[in-house]
Amino acid sequence: MTSVHEIREEATGDVPVRRVTVTVNGERRVVECEPRLLLVHLLRQGLRLTGTHMGCDTTNCGACTVLVDGRAVKSCTMLGVQADGHEVTTVEGLATESGLHPLQEGFREEHGLQCGFCTPGMMLSAKALLDENPEPSEEDVRWALSGNLCRCTGYQNIVKSVLWAAAELRSE
Ligand code: FES
Ligand code: FES
Repeated sequence: MTSVHEIREEATGDVPVRRVTVTVNGERRVVECEPRLLLVHLLRQGLRLTGTHMGCDTTNCGACTVLVDGRAVKSCTMLGVQADGHEVTTVEGLATESGLHPLQEGFREEHGLQCGFCTPGMMLSAKALLDENPEPSEEDVRWALSGNLCRCTGYQNIVKSVLWAAAELRSE
């Protein structure tokens, strides 16, 4: 399905828009946006995928993490036009019709979230890790999530959640 949105952050006069074609969670989307628009805003405002959050303006918190062609990327530090022709996965794309993704199950089982603000980014960074390394150590998980900040959990249960998901994925 194809959809066209025009995204302007505010009245900006004559700034030209660019057409961007991006596959988001398996669906081809076409948007028209200003070249300066950040990918995080394209996702949140343009496509209404508001699971991707913004927790800072200096690229340190990781709340905006999505997968671009399978790699974990901080979408606040990438322009929407740079996603042209690429595949993006957001948290809304993790669950399938048959149920939650094992990472989502793991965060629930092991109490890996409280306020939930960091959770989408955490799960996507964790997915990038597990896709590459199905049997990570605790240290591997902590290192892979070192670009994702959480104010609530103290991280311990997040690590347990990811290890739970890794074990679940290996048993499937
Ligand atoms: S919003 Fe903090 S790293 Fe992107
Ligand atoms: S659960 Fe609140 S910031 Fe992580």
